[in-house]
Order: sequence, then structure tokens, then C-alpha cells
Amino acid sequence: MRFRHKLIGAMLALAALGAIGTWVLYWGVYDVSARNQHLAPTYWLLDTGMRQSVKRHSQDIHVPQLDDQRLIRRGQALFREHCVLCHGAPGVAPQPFALGMTPAPGNLAHAARDWQPAELFWITKFGIKMAGMPAWEFRFADDDIWALVAFLRRLPRISPAEYRSLPAEEAQALPHPAHEPSAERGRIAMRQYLCVTCHVIPGIVGPNAPVGPTLDGIAKRAVIAGLLPNTPENMVRWLREPQRVNPDGAMPDLGVSERDAHDMAAFLQTLR
Ligand code: HEC
Ligand code: HEC
Repeated sequence: MRFRHKLIGAMLALAALGAIGTWVLYWGVYDVSARNQHLAPTYWLLDTGMRQSVKRHSQDIHVPQLDDQRLIRRGQALFREHCVLCHGAPGVAPQPFALGMTPAPGNLAHAARDWQPAELFWITKFGIKMAGMPAWEFRFADDDIWALVAFLRRLPRISPAEYRSLPAEEAQALPHPAHEPSAERGRIAMRQYLCVTCHVIPGIVGPNAPVGPTLDGIAKRAVIAGLLPNTPENMVRWLREPQRVNPDGAMPDLGVSERDAHDMAAFLQTLR
């Protein structure tokens, strides 16, 4: 009898919490602006959850030798080109847009003291959802990500004067190693190239905004964009340079690599 009372009490409490949650979300009471940080307990909860998640997901990553000077210099060039705009560097401020981000992109001078190399690798490769830290998996090969980690490990010991005097090198990203086309990887690429912000794509969560035609049933269509016969080669060509194929079309060149285009074409083949 007492157990039953407790059960009913717990269920009522849950229902009340659910009702409050719905009220807060549905009536727009929750403030989603980037102007204010979360309340201290919410911040603590999210930050702790993020740290634990990174720790768990990175535990099986094998760390290569990171003390090589050439690797560190390569990481420095990539860091200058791709990371400073949000994170700043010793004596260098981030770009204005980054100042308004919540959570704020931290100064990475301390990152190598907070995080293990495998964790830095994981964060850089996969990013942090709902935080503004991008996933670099589709931009950089693993070797380049390790170069960045090698540089991040040096960063706590680099003074502003030394950072200024480091030679600025070209940062040409390495190509990804070749592999057999993978529809599953192509599905992930649909998000990582923003396809889902302009197309309805079955099975992919996102805005699915109808800026371009729906990709539902694309495998059965005879032509691509009304111009090219729908063959696998033409699909790769379209995904890599839509502006060359149709300069009057609104689909932008997204810098899709050859390998990623093959993966996406394999995925599009499954949309019948
Ligand atoms: C568009 C802005 C942006 C760019 C560009 C960016 N980051 Fe970040 N990064 C963030 C934000 C925002 C966070 C904070 C996430 C959080 O606190 O939850 C973050 C967090 C991190 C962290 C965890 C650090 C910490 O403070 O605990 C590392 C490491 C990191 N980024 C590395 C990089 C590297 C390496 C690059 C360049 C390849 C890069 N980031 C480029 C926005 C960016
Ligand atoms: C900024 C919006 C935008 C983005 C981002 C975008 N597309 Fe498009 N896409 C369009 C528009 C607009 C068209 C129609 C263009 C035309 O007819 O020339 C189109 C056409 C297409 C077509 C031909 C559809 C048909 O029915 O013939 C395919 C396939 C396609 N896009 C795939 C993709 C993929 C894959 C990505 C991600 C790599 C992507 N799109 C990213 C706007 C976009």
C-alpha cells in the first residue's frame, strides 16, 4: 500500500515536471539569446557533461609521436588559418563575430593543460554540438589534426613575442586517404556540407528547408538539375562544381572533395 502511494507520488511529480518543461519551452519563456550565459548550475551541468563525454569517447585513440618539429610547424600554420579567428592566440584577439558567441570560444593557451592529446584530437575532429566548435573531420585528414594537437601542446609555452616571430607558412591541408565509396559516410557528409539546410533529405534531421528541390527519389530522376543525365559520374561532377554546370543556379560550390562527392553520390543512390 505504501509502495503504491510512493509510486503515485513519483508519477505525479514527473507529470508536474513535464508540464512545467512544456510550458517553459512551448510558451517561449526560455531565453535562447546568446547574450547571457546559462545560470551557474546549468553551466556546470553542461560543462561537466561535455568533459565526461569527451573523456569517454576519446579513450581508445592511439596517440602518435607529437614532438616532431615539422609536425608542430605544420600545426601552427593550420592553427593560424583556421582556429585563431575564434580562439585567438598569444597576444592576438579573435575576430569580432567570435566575441558574441555563447559559449565563448576559450583561449587555447590553457587547453593542453586541461586536456590529454587524445581528447584534443577528438574535440578537433568531431567538434562540440550546440557549442559552436566545428567538426573538422571533413576538412582535415587525421595527420593534420595530429599536427594541430602537436602545436596546441606547445602553445602554453609560447609567448606573444615568440608567436609573432614564428614564420608564417602556407597551410595547405593534406588530402584524405582514398577509400571505397561509403553511403553511410555520405549520409554524415550531407550535414557536414550543409546540404540539409537547402534540401529535404529523407532520414536526415535538420532544417530540411526547400531552397532547392527535394532529394527524395533523386536516384530515380532522369536528369540532375534539368541539365545532366543522372549517372554516378555526373552526380560527382554536380556535387563538386554546380556553379560550373549551371552558373545561373543557386546551388553554391561547397568545396566538396572528390572522395566526399563519391560517398554522397553513393548515399543519393539509396534515395529511390
Ligand atoms: C567558429 C568558431 C570556432 C572555430 C573556428 C574553432 N573553434 Fe574550437 N571551440 C569553439 C567554441 C565555441 C568552443 C567552446 C565549447 C564549450 O565551451 O563548450 C571551442 C572549444 C575548443 C576546444 C576545447 C577547449 C576548452 O576551452 O576547453 C578545443 C581544444 C578547440 N576548440 C580547438 C580548436 C581548434 C584546434 C580549432 C582550429 C582547427 C578550432 N577550435 C576552431 C569555437 C571554434
Ligand atoms: C544554398 C542552398 C544549397 C545547398 C547548401 C545545397 N544545394 Fe543542392 N541545390 C540547390 C538548388 C537551388 C538546386 C537547383 C539548382 C539548379 O537547378 O541549378 C540544387 C540542386 C541539387 C541537386 C539536383 C536535384 C534535381 O532534382 O535535379 C542535387 C542532387 C543537389 N542539389 C544535392 C546537394 C547536395 C548533396 C548538397 C550538399 C553537398 C547540396 N545540394 C547543397 C541549393 C543548395
